[in-house]
Amino acid sequence: MSRMVDRSGGTPVSAASPAAAFTTVTSYLSWDHTRLERALAGAREHLRAERMGAARQSFDEYARGLERHMRVEEDLVFPVFEELSGLSGGPVAVMRDEHRSIRMALAMMRDGLERDDTQSFGAGVRFLQSILPEHNAKEEHVLYPTTDRLLTPSARATLARRLEREE
Ligand SMILES: [Fe+2]
Ligand SMILES: [Fe+2]
Repeated sequence: MSRMVDRSGGTPVSAASPAAAFTTVTSYLSWDHTRLERALAGAREHLRAERMGAARQSFDEYARGLERHMRVEEDLVFPVFEELSGLSGGPVAVMRDEHRSIRMALAMMRDGLERDDTQSFGAGVRFLQSILPEHNAKEEHVLYPTTDRLLTPSARATLARRLEREE
């Protein structure tokens, strides 16, 4: 394993490294959702305390982590779901659209932080929160488990490892 977890808490958020290897798409990507939620909470906490440098740094790590998460979904999970379920277009098109909105929300937040404009950052957070929780729930309850069910156990474990290792 090239990436082991850093128990000191110094693991960069963009480098997703769980303590143990995951064997399903659902367990790994759900774990990553939780990890990212915590990272965003950390950035918001710095902002509330007016630690702007730390807020910017935490936000950058969060945004990189979320970008990576969406990229591995788009490149490695959605195509497998579409191919194995025979459902191209429909559900995955909705998820890809939501990713576009999530990227817009991240851009609003980044822009607000760069200008020290906490109001704009807050508007970006509210936009993000209007999309992300439901998006994640649909993935965790439908898309990921369906993908796992359609794969053989060994293909499932291989994909989970690949997701985990992807930069
Ligand atoms: Fe997603
Ligand atoms: Fe996700």
